[in-house]
This record gives sequence, structure tokens and C-alpha cells, in this order.
Amino acid sequence: MIDDLPKTSPRNEDRPAVSIVVPTFREADSLPPLLDRIAEIRQAGMDLEVIIVDDDSNDGTEACIADRNCPWVTLITRKDARGLSSAVLCGLEAARGETLVVMDADLSHPPEAIPDFQRALDAGADFVVGSRYVSGGTTEDGWGVLRWVNSKVATLMARPFTKVRDPMSGYLGFRRHTWSDAVDLDPVGYKIGLELIVKCRCTHVKEVPIHFSTRRHGESKLSLRVQAQYFVHILRLARWKFPGWSSFVPFALVGVTGVGVYVGLLWLFELMLQNVLSEDMRIILAILLTMMWNFIFDRWLAFWYARRDSLLRQLVGFIAVCSIPVVINFFVTRWLIGDQFVTPAAGMLGALAGSVAGVVFNWFVVRAFVFKRAS
Ligand code: GDD
Ligand code: MN
Repeated sequence: MIDDLPKTSPRNEDRPAVSIVVPTFREADSLPPLLDRIAEIRQAGMDLEVIIVDDDSNDGTEACIADRNCPWVTLITRKDARGLSSAVLCGLEAARGETLVVMDADLSHPPEAIPDFQRALDAGADFVVGSRYVSGGTTEDGWGVLRWVNSKVATLMARPFTKVRDPMSGYLGFRRHTWSDAVDLDPVGYKIGLELIVKCRCTHVKEVPIHFSTRRHGESKLSLRVQAQYFVHILRLARWKFPGWSSFVPFALVGVTGVGVYVGLLWLFELMLQNVLSEDMRIILAILLTMMWNFIFDRWLAFWYARRDSLLRQLVGFIAVCSIPVVINFFVTRWLIGDQFVTPAAGMLGALAGSVAGVVFNWFVVRAFVFKRAS
């Protein structure tokens, strides 16, 4: 029984108050019970429409919707595009309501929570999440250990971006303007909720507790490939939200591998080229190759945004910038060792401090002069 519905604007044929976007892939068996339950909410007085975005399932979805002949249900069949997040964005484009809701078709998400979503938005939330992990929220038994661990790890990885307890949820509600103000929406993978919370810069996220049911019909589309996409998604979000750290941390890590490469090369050259090259030449060769190593990985991982610029110009600039600390390092090390100026421990510490300073210096200079951000 649904009573005491929140007030929605008066019924208007063009613009319903609430649009429910439902992405589907092979959900023909779930749609009738889902639409029956939504119809009850509608009968109770909530002015809503449903937009189903189906990726050409060919399982009777089209016939099922045509048979029902509901004016408030729209089916969009995408023939060429695939993917959950892009299907959701496609549905949002077509939605006309002032309040936008996104939910799964498989009855995991109880549509009866939609009035609570509306109430939360009316009370000032800028984003609502149907949540399993707040008080009152539950998950139907039968989740294997693996799925549970999976969900927990994924949730933990989203921590730097939002404090929401259930950022993996696919049951979402927000106002039209929240979504239309979003910048750089990137429909990678499954976690469109996380993407929206971050890119819409939501600050008042309200979690409405739900009981997450196990699907009765059809099967999950959460493949291994989709799970791997989550890492790509997290990486892209990090680069968007924390561009400085997302560049510096890989730069420093590449620097650490560079030390290993350098030492390894010196050792290798001593073994193999002792009679061919002088010691100085071997050192210079090792330095040059290590610079190449750092250049390739820095360009790929730390300065991903500048990969379209001229490679040759960047390489020359990179070597020029990095030569300064390399030369300084070379002479300081010689001086320290030559005069027995410091104890080994202090020398190590000095080298370490020098390396850290070098990495920070290099990063700032390389970023400013070699790998420039397109304006
Ligand atoms: N159009 C379209 N295209 N729809 C898709 C696609 C696709 O490529 N892949 C999945 N869907 C639809 C499904 O038909 C279903 O309605 C909904 O998206 C969720 O897919 P499921 O396959 O049921 O996902 P799940 O149950 O494993 O994951 C759900 O719960 C997770 C939390 O445990 C989703 O809500 C996830 O977003 C959520 O993180
Ligand atoms: Mn599901």
C-alpha cells in the first residue's frame, strides 16, 4: 500500500514529474512484474513515465512493451551501441521529467522506494542513492563470499571520491539540473552512479535504505570484462578529480623503477661491455637508456594528457630538464665519496633527500615545460 505520496507538480501530458530510466539487456521476463509494480505507484498518484533503453536484446522485449500499450512507457532500442552506462545516459537524454530516477530491470531495486527518493530531493538532497549499506538497508541472502568481497573492494576503491556507503548502487535519483550541469560525463563501465556523484559535484547525497533482492529471471551481465573496466573508471575519475596527484604519484613510481633499471644496466654493461667501452661511456649509456625508460613511462602514465604533442620535442625537452639533476647528482656524489666527507649512513640519507628533491623538481619543471596541458 502506497500512501502519503510527496506532492508532484500537476499532471502535464508533455512533462511528467518523474522519469524512471531502466537500462535492459535480455530482461523480457522481468519487465512485466516491474511495470506492474510501477503502475501501482502511478495509480496511487505519482505522475511518472518509464524509459526503457534496450540494447537490441531480441528476446521479446519489444513485443512485451508493444502488447502492454502504455502511453507512459517508452522503449528505446539501441541497435549499434552497447553498455550499461551509455544506455543510462541515452535514457536520461530522452527523459522529460523534473526528477530523474535510474534503476535496474531485474527487480533488485524496489520501485516502491521512489516516493522516498522524491521526498529526499524535496528535503534538499542533490542526489539520492538506493542503499544496501545504511541502517534499514539489506541484501537478500545467497550472495556468495566472492560477490560480497568483490562489492566491498570496489566500494573501498571509491572511497577517495565519495563518502557514500553504497557508491556501487545502480538505483539513483536526482533533479534534471543536477544532471544537465554535469561536466565530462564518461560512460565507462557499470558505475554510472559513482560517475554522476563525482562529475555532478554532488555534496548532499542522501542514501535511502532499500532491500536489494536477488534477481528471479534472466542472468547478471556483470562479466569479468565489465569488472576490469571498473579499474579504468577509477583511474579516469582520479585523473579528473585529483589531476596533480594522479600525475605525481606515477611519476615518482616510474622514478623508482628507473633507479632499478639504471643499476641493472650498469651491472650488465660491466659484465658484457667492459672491454668495449670505457667506464665513463658505460655510465653515460646507462644514464641515457634510463632516461628513455623514464620518458616512455612518464609520458604514458604521468602525462597522459599530453600524448598528442610532438614526441621528438618532448624527448629533447625531457632529456634537457633531467640532465640538470643528473649532472648535479653526479658531481655531488663524487665530492661526497672523494673527500670521505660524510659517513656512509649520512651519505645515503643525503642521496635519498637529493633523489626526493630531484623527483619533485623534475616533476614541476617537466610538467611546466615539456608535457603541457592543452588549454
Ligand atoms: N541497455 C543495457 N546495456 N542494459 C544493460 C547492459 C547493457 O550493456 N548491461 C546490463 N544492463 C542492465 C540489465 O539488464 C539490468 O537491468 C541492469 O542493467 C543491471 O544489470 P545486472 O546484470 O543485473 O547487474 P548486477 O545485478 O550484476 O549489478 C547491479 O548491482 C550492482 C550492485 O551489486 C547493478 O545495479 C550495478 O550497477 C550495481 O553496482
Ligand atoms: Mn542485477
